[in-house]
Amino acid sequence: MESLRFLLSVLLLCANSAIQIRGHDLLKDHVAFFIFGDSIFDPGNNNYFNTSAQANYPPYGETFFKYPTGRFSDGRIIPDFIAEYAKLPLIPPYLQPGNHQFTYGVNFASGGAGALVETNQGLVIDLKTQISYFRKVVKLLRQNLGDAKAKTLLSRAVYLITIGTNDYGSPILANSPVPKSLWDEFVGMVIGNLTASIEDICKLGGRKFGFLSLGQLGCRPILRVLVPANVSSCYEEATALAELHDRALSKALQELQSRLKGFKYAYQNMTLFLSEGVNDLSKYVLKEVKTACCGSGRYRGICSCGGKRGLTEYELCENPNEYLFFDCAHFTDRANGKIAELMWSGNSSVIGPYNLKELFSTY
Ligand SMILES: *[C@@H]1O[C@H](CO)[C@@H](O)[C@H](O)[C@H]1NC(C)=O
Ligand SMILES: *[C@@H]1O[C@H](CO)[C@@H](O)[C@H](O)[C@H]1NC(C)=O
Ligand SMILES: *[C@@H]1O[C@H](CO)[C@@H](O)[C@H](O)[C@H]1NC(C)=O
Ligand SMILES: *[C@@H]1O[C@H](CO)[C@@H](O)[C@H](O)[C@H]1NC(C)=O
Ligand SMILES: *[C@@H]1O[C@H](CO)[C@@H](O)[C@H](O)[C@H]1NC(C)=O
Repeated sequence: MESLRFLLSVLLLCANSAIQIRGHDLLKDHVAFFIFGDSIFDPGNNNYFNTSAQANYPPYGETFFKYPTGRFSDGRIIPDFIAEYAKLPLIPPYLQPGNHQFTYGVNFASGGAGALVETNQGLVIDLKTQISYFRKVVKLLRQNLGDAKAKTLLSRAVYLITIGTNDYGSPILANSPVPKSLWDEFVGMVIGNLTASIEDICKLGGRKFGFLSLGQLGCRPILRVLVPANVSSCYEEATALAELHDRALSKALQELQSRLKGFKYAYQNMTLFLSEGVNDLSKYVLKEVKTACCGSGRYRGICSCGGKRGLTEYELCENPNEYLFFDCAHFTDRANGKIAELMWSGNSSVIGPYNLKELFSTY
């Protein structure tokens, strides 16, 4: 009974926010953009508290910004490109000091974060805390714009989320991988928490969501380096776990769509993008898809890029534009641009049921 009442309240709230309000002066020209997740989307939130999960030193940022911003990339991250497509300014990190208006949105993502509170606890802003920050932003928007305008802004906004990499990767890196017999349960917990966060955003007025799937997690240099040199493959268990997650998320999103009126989403399938031999990558002129540009050891899978995490020595490639990975775990500016392009305007083989362009342009 209690859960039915909860379900109904979610349904009603989402239905309310789906009411179309047209012809508003504010927001005529833009749709706000809110971002949640981990290092793949973090624009520098981790610069503002004491954590080892930072990228605010050279050579991070060397190509596009020409200085380290805190982004885990040589240049831009995926939300930067999406913001440009949507004709928005760069969306700032929530924790950046200053007087934010938030009318263009804001980015809550934090390097190292997971959907589970326990993931890298103490070093990151977990998803649940990111949602609690969003709640504060909603309150501020209501104060500043009034309820009606805030509601319009929130229901027209696009909410982009990527989470899970650290929930699955961190136990492996800590040498205590989740036993196979518990995989279903563990994935259920991650998806359960992610779904709860999506519903929270929905209750606060959001309806339009974008998601990045995890894809071949075990092919990130940081995990590939853990596989013995004579085996020469990705860390297959990590990829298998990520595939379980991706399928479960796909199911959860279909379920949310059928349950929450007005709920629309774009789900990008990273598997295809990251597949070697499917030609997608070579088509995009990313010549090197195994070895990172910056780091040390095999595949430069040891996370020493920048020399600030215990190891001072590291190698750095000449041209990051030829690489898929900038450091042990994160994409280059070039790769992020290609992923963003597919998220923005890709067809149903890479993103669906909507792409981001459609989400940004439909009210
Ligand atoms: C930051 O955290 C590290 C490790 O927990 C600690 O050694 C250091 O003193 C902290 N620095 C500050 C400024 O609190
Ligand atoms: C969320 O994660 C916690 C562990 O952090 C777990 O105990 C809980 O059951 C999860 N919630 C859902 C709805 O799956
Ligand atoms: C790889 O090397 C280890 C010992 O170094 C050996 O036990 C294992 O059988 C080798 N695997 C393959 C596929 O050659
Ligand atoms: C992603 O694409 C791959 C390859 O086409 C496919 O096997 C997989 O099922 C897709 N994943 C999802 C979640 O749709
Ligand atoms: C999607 O686009 C690619 C080329 O960009 C094309 O090869 C493929 O057939 C298209 N798929 C669908 C389902 O339209």
